Amino acid sequence: MKALLLLLAQLCSASLVPEREKDPEYWRRQAQETLRNALRLQRLNQNVAKNLILFLGDGEMGAPTLGWGSGAGGDRDAMNWVIMGGGRKYMFPKNASDVEYPREEKHRGTRLDRRNLVQAWQEAKPPGKVAKYVWNRRELLALNLSRVDFLLGLFEPGDMVYELDRNNETDPSLSEMVAVAIRMLQKNPRGFFLLVEGGE
Ligand SMILES: *[C@@H]1O[C@H](CO)[C@@H](O)[C@H](O)[C@H]1NC(C)=O
Ligand SMILES: *[C@@H]1O[C@H](CO)[C@@H](O)[C@H](O)[C@H]1NC(C)=O
Ligand SMILES: *[C@@H]1O[C@H](CO)[C@@H](O)[C@H](O)[C@H]1NC(C)=O
Repeated sequence: MKALLLLLAQLCSASLVPEREKDPEYWRRQAQETLRNALRLQRLNQNVAKNLILFLGDGEMGAPTLGWGSGAGGDRDAMNWVIMGGGRKYMFPKNASDVEYPREEKHRGTRLDRRNLVQAWQEAKPPGKVAKYVWNRRELLALNLSRVDFLLGLFEPGDMVYELDRNNETDPSLSEMVAVAIRMLQKNPRGFFLLVEGGE
């Protein structure tokens, strides 16, 4: 499972590689950092997959995968939903301004059905649970995760940006997202399944 986590985390990064990130040393450092995070995991081996993380490259696959809008199904109560990545514009009604780039037309919402899927996600949480939506790094790192049951972080309207272009105020690094996801999932003694999905 640790190996799977590492592999998937790296696939996610690898699919976002621009030319200048093709330096092997960059990836060795990235792998070491991811490994350090992963090694803090406990109980990974002996447990049944129970939870799900999706790192959405651009979110386009996200809504249907999660069954948002069609009722997420009976496993909902058992899972700590942790979803982080880009793809914010696919969650908001067509032409809705983006919270981070309100003046940029290309970042406006795209949903022809006029639904706000972030709101739908929050409303779908089981009674008594806390569902938090964050859209920037500061909000993410300020969360007290012991008070959060479900987490949705959408940090860019489209794809997450390359590590070297990352705005460190608004966008968490892949390692930070993995670390948060792991802390959330460690709360569930039955273990979890981690899926890290890269964008195109
Ligand atoms: C989109 O939003 C802008 C700014 O709010 C508005 O001026 C424009 O008319 C809207 N376009 C459509 C097609 O709704
Ligand atoms: C986080 O929340 C827990 C549970 O409510 C509380 O015990 C803890 O002190 C909080 N931690 C911080 C840093 O606020
Ligand atoms: C964040 O980025 C700014 C500008 O690129 C840089 O000066 C600063 O050192 C960075 N801070 C951290 C914590 O990486």
